[in-house]
Amino acid sequence: MPDIRFDFSGAEVLVVGASRAGIGASIARAFQDAGAKVAITGAEPEPAEEDRARFSYTQLDVTDLAAVRALSAKTSKLDILVNCAAITSRGEEMEPTFFEHVVNVNLHGTFRTAEAFHSQLKAQKGSLINIASMYATFGSPKNPAYGASKAAVTQLTKSLSIAWAPDGIRVNAVAPGFIVTMQSARSRTDPAHVAAVNLRTPMGRWGQPEDIAGPVLFLASPASAFMTGTCLAIDGGYSIA
Ligand SMILES: NC(=O)c1ccc[n+]([C@@H]2O[C@H](COP(=O)([O-])OP(=O)(O)OC[C@H]3O[C@@H](n4cnc5c(N)ncnc54)[C@H](O)[C@@H]3O)[C@@H](O)[C@H]2O)c1
Repeated sequence: MPDIRFDFSGAEVLVVGASRAGIGASIARAFQDAGAKVAITGAEPEPAEEDRARFSYTQLDVTDLAAVRALSAKTSKLDILVNCAAITSRGEEMEPTFFEHVVNVNLHGTFRTAEAFHSQLKAQKGSLINIASMYATFGSPKNPAYGASKAAVTQLTKSLSIAWAPDGIRVNAVAPGFIVTMQSARSRTDPAHVAAVNLRTPMGRWGQPEDIAGPVLFLASPASAFMTGTCLAIDGGYSIA
């Protein structure tokens, strides 16, 4: 990531869903590079190799309310919570049970962690940042559960921002475009899809996980002190072209 010059010294940050060297990991590294104490979680038993020595790690299934609450109970202080955990599977989301599971992870999981860490965030007048998607806005024939869940995440972001403004907590979201991560690996095996995204994106390329970190740090920083309930598009212009 470019030199962004944010200073998060003394801040404690939790990034939920940062185990696969993708967007969450990139956000976690950026906060740590800016001086924060950062903990991460993921569905896997261990994080990506390159992050093992770097962060304290908890394996956490966000569909497990007791596990989410147990992690909260062990966390005495939290300034910034970033919700990155999500799943999707192109072509499988018309199956009702799987549809429900995707919404459970992406939407209910986001709410479970937000609610569980509300008191710590309130104590610090902290920030909550959720990860939405362009598919919160566009229809998504192959990923109907993912799109519905991400639209709901942007709506939840607005509602929580109003509910928690009196507590001094700001709640914002970002909506990444097409980003090179393990989540998009399968779709990137289709060269026509890769080329179509490049062609339609005014900036002419897919995003990298590092492209998402800067705007997230901005939303967690005093530079955005009067912003709450927003969702920033980070997509190289894809959604306005
Ligand atoms: N890659 C993209 O193109 C793209 C675009 C828009 C939005 N996003 C969003 O960015 C965020 C990060 O995605 P990524 O691309 O880095 O993908 P990723 O697959 O690398 O990361 C997803 C994370 O979610 C975790 N996770 C999955 N199921 C979980 C569960 N049940 N409980 C707890 N954690 C669970 C995984 O362990 C992993 O850490 C997601 O919210 C994703 O929807 C990604």
